[in-house]
Amino acid sequence: MNKGKRVGIVGAGNVGSTVAYSLAMLGSCHEIILRDNKIEIAKGKALDMSQAASAIRSHSVVSVAESMEELVDCDVVVVTAGSPRLPGMSRDDLLMTNANITKEVIQGIAKYSPNAIVIMVSNPLDAMTYVALRESGFDRSRVIGMAGILDSARMASFIQEKLGYGGGQIRASVMGGHGDDMVPLPRYSTVAGVPLSDLLTQDEIDEVVHRTRHGGAEIVSFLKTGSAYYAPGKSTAIMVEAILKDTKQIHPCAVCLDGEYGYHDVVSGVPVMLGANGAEKIIEVTLNEQEKQMFANSCNSVQTLIDTLNANNFFQGA
Ligand code: 2OP
Repeated sequence: MNKGKRVGIVGAGNVGSTVAYSLAMLGSCHEIILRDNKIEIAKGKALDMSQAASAIRSHSVVSVAESMEELVDCDVVVVTAGSPRLPGMSRDDLLMTNANITKEVIQGIAKYSPNAIVIMVSNPLDAMTYVALRESGFDRSRVIGMAGILDSARMASFIQEKLGYGGGQIRASVMGGHGDDMVPLPRYSTVAGVPLSDLLTQDEIDEVVHRTRHGGAEIVSFLKTGSAYYAPGKSTAIMVEAILKDTKQIHPCAVCLDGEYGYHDVVSGVPVMLGANGAEKIIEVTLNEQEKQMFANSCNSVQTLIDTLNANNFFQGA
């Protein structure tokens, strides 16, 4: 338990609220501060969550910042603000709208919580992580996107469903951007150390890979008015906890590459060691030719979004 730790959450919709609730139930931070333009709703949720924390005898308190000025001196700020994905929309359709929202939010974070580690959750995730990095001026170790934990959890869940056993023993691995060309890695996925290829046929593995790539859209197609939030919220809370507790554990996260895997100035999902200083180390996994090609396709998709932002002079003055 790290007394005195403050976590800000910008955007108290379904994902932001679920992050806050997960953190309140973990008790790993002292104060969780919600920031949302819908102030009354945020206040209601904050009271409700503080009461839930009291119910489990946790010291965590959930409060509301009525403006970015009140989101001061946070150790970690999670950004979920933005338009959610609706049926028929790709994550990329949200690019310009959410880039403008992210720009404004990040400028506030840089001003009022200048030492924070920023966790981006808004979509399109990798491009928004890039925007946050550029607009904050922070070191790349302090601007990290949440996607890989979510995508790996989805893959693990689909493997369990396919096998009918192994729950809790599955280590699934997904790299690349949080888009349709993400890179699930069956070769690096195991059940209690047993390679996936010894448990499932190639066709079954291909089905798991396909379903993982479209895991977000599958949920959107059921919810209709929004996208997933339990797994995204929990995955984000796992990152916050790793940072607050300085666990030095490896998690797949979106970071700006600076030569790793042969890429520069583009955000992609890679295994990262998380600690008190954020993304403290980027791990370079050995990829075969096919995996390298898939990773290249994914990085190119993210690069296309960054190019679109540049073509619109988005970063002028940054
Ligand atoms: C998801 O994958 C929409 O990115 C969100 O659920």
